[in-house]
Amino acid sequence: MKFQHLLALFLLLFISTFYPQTRTMLDPKVEAKIDSLLTIMSIDEKIGQLNQLAYGWGWGPSQAATVPDDYKRLIREGKVGSLLNAVGAKLTYELQKIAMTESRTRIPLLFGFDVIHGVKTTFPIPLAESCSWDLSLIEKSAAMQAKEAAACGIHWTFTPMVDIARDPRWGRIAEGNGEDPFLGSLITTARVKGLQGDDLSGDHILACAKHFAAYGAAEGGRDYNTVDISERTLRETYLPPFKAAVDAGAQTFMCSFNEIAGIPSSANKHLLTEILRDEWKFSGFVVSDWNSIGEMVNHGIAKDNKQAGLKAIRAGLDMDMETRAYSTYLKELLNEGSVPVSLIDESVRRILRIKFRMNLFADPYRFCDETKEAAEVANASQRAAALELAQSSLVLLKNTNNILPISKTTKSIALIGPLANNRKDPLGSWEQFGDTNSVVTVLEGLQKKLPDAKITYVQGCPINETGKTDFSAALHIANVSDLVVLVLGEEGHYSGEAASRSSIELPSAQSQLFREILKSGKPMVVVLMNGRPLAIPDLQQNAGAILESWFPGITAGDAIASALVGDFNPSGKLTVSFPRATGQIPVYYNHKNTGRPASETNHYSSKYLDISEKPLYPFGFGLSYSTFTYSNLTIDKKQIGLSESATIKVDVKNSGNYPASEVVQLYINRNPASVTRPVRELKNFQKITLQPNETKSVVFILTPENISFYNDKMQFGNEPGQVTIFVGTNSVETINGTVIISEKK
Ligand code: NOJ
Repeated sequence: MKFQHLLALFLLLFISTFYPQTRTMLDPKVEAKIDSLLTIMSIDEKIGQLNQLAYGWGWGPSQAATVPDDYKRLIREGKVGSLLNAVGAKLTYELQKIAMTESRTRIPLLFGFDVIHGVKTTFPIPLAESCSWDLSLIEKSAAMQAKEAAACGIHWTFTPMVDIARDPRWGRIAEGNGEDPFLGSLITTARVKGLQGDDLSGDHILACAKHFAAYGAAEGGRDYNTVDISERTLRETYLPPFKAAVDAGAQTFMCSFNEIAGIPSSANKHLLTEILRDEWKFSGFVVSDWNSIGEMVNHGIAKDNKQAGLKAIRAGLDMDMETRAYSTYLKELLNEGSVPVSLIDESVRRILRIKFRMNLFADPYRFCDETKEAAEVANASQRAAALELAQSSLVLLKNTNNILPISKTTKSIALIGPLANNRKDPLGSWEQFGDTNSVVTVLEGLQKKLPDAKITYVQGCPINETGKTDFSAALHIANVSDLVVLVLGEEGHYSGEAASRSSIELPSAQSQLFREILKSGKPMVVVLMNGRPLAIPDLQQNAGAILESWFPGITAGDAIASALVGDFNPSGKLTVSFPRATGQIPVYYNHKNTGRPASETNHYSSKYLDISEKPLYPFGFGLSYSTFTYSNLTIDKKQIGLSESATIKVDVKNSGNYPASEVVQLYINRNPASVTRPVRELKNFQKITLQPNETKSVVFILTPENISFYNDKMQFGNEPGQVTIFVGTNSVETINGTVIISEKK
């Protein structure tokens, strides 16, 4: 063992005594094993570790028999380090066996797959889950998804997607956690912990924080588009969830497709090396996005894949997903002297380190058990967890005159809309092997919950229809029923990758259907299924109730029906603002004040002539069947020093008639400060449950870190000034107090 390894061993033992999170630290024994592997590996075998190839698409025993010859050869020759999209215990066993018995170095393969919200058990989309604000439930969801993935051979998921998104035109908003960096960071931590567990043992798999970075800031909300943001916005808004991922021990990162200020992420040394490794001490590896190295040619910073590969490896990009630039050109670049072998070795080391941390050298077939696969995939406990998440993701946007919950004695319901009896779209995008046959529709859910009611269903219009439609059948059943439930929204694949929309209003036939059914004059509940916030001012004004269910996954109908009849009391809160119109985008709660904040009395202020500048539904918004009263906000000190904390207390009472959960939210504003600050920033929250008439005193500690920011010299820290503290049920309806931050104390 070399001296530096002994030293590292000593340090590791020393630090691990005080600091439990040692999995991000280097294990000298592993590093020594990697040293010896590097001495025996040929340059081709080293480059092979950096090469990730797609193994088509599909799942099942038949796949195993048909491993194509070129894959067999590449694995045998050690020219592939990882495969994506090879799924199934039997198939991954067949492939791994080639690596472990026929390759010279016996280095195990790493199997990656996009488990965005389940493999076969489709959970709600991540944006939906974020609206639960329930970190332990989100962690549980990630753990369940890891368990199902592990059962079918997958070591590594390309999740969590932690991109902050302020533009709902961008379809990938569905895969993330909304618009707020603070909440986004906490959810990222929960997902990483759920996926990886404490130490990647058991049924845990590797997480991959993506897309590094600022992919969500694409101009015009158009996927893959240009990003140009300041270092301040990058660090304050887009990077915090990635930093949280590193701190939570995420073992891998995926770089994004976009450029930032002229540099595509695959070539961005500032991001991949200076920030990720030097500042944050990340010790895992970075994979490119699909062909993102090759796309540097289109970006216009490389004349060919060879030059693109050179820029990528120099920036710190370790694994090449499907460009094949490394496998084709790295050896040439080495021989020409453009890439030192030490740079290749470093990337190989990072990848091997993760294979060791996954224990694949000792147990290469750990997820290749077909009996376990049969027992774990899409089983009852998976389904129960998916239901729990789908219920907790529901956001009640409107409930006039307590039209909800539906009385269990209701005699007749007209159930209308293209998503009311639909088994495909509730799965959303990235549904992978999600089984449409196992989807419970809203029709089925309501029939189960209200067996004595006459429920009549008419689709009303096709989901994406923009032309003329005959609404007479739908209007007829509305006219003859006591209540209308209209299930509207988007097609499942209208969000997700390459699914940007220029208009986020409802498809026109659905808007017309709504208008038409209004003519019945019947009480009307609208259930929404969609992968992004929608601009729905007509619904907001004229529907009786609106329940946002996002894409709830396979248990859609059960979750929605349980809330409609009051067996489950909705408690979700929006993690993205709903605009009034597409033209209002971007609209997000933590915006700046401007020098001329919108004012009704000042024409020359920052507003629109045709609509309000305010969102239709603000961040943090969500109703319950109960109501809550906030009172007695106290702050323990009037003034605190730069490194002191303040304790904030507030009383929250369930002033309604139902047991209910509430997300108590704490926001701050710093003013004056050396730089302009957002009008409100979420800094803490607690989800509590209260019985009718029960009051709880909720306590928050506001730490110096909570009120720190990048100052006018771009240094992160606290400074003297004043902080206004807002506590309430959403980002707008709050009670507040202030605290002075002073230099001394
Ligand atoms: C492209 C997507 O951007 C990324 O999120 C995904 O993980 C890869 N394809 C692999 O499927």
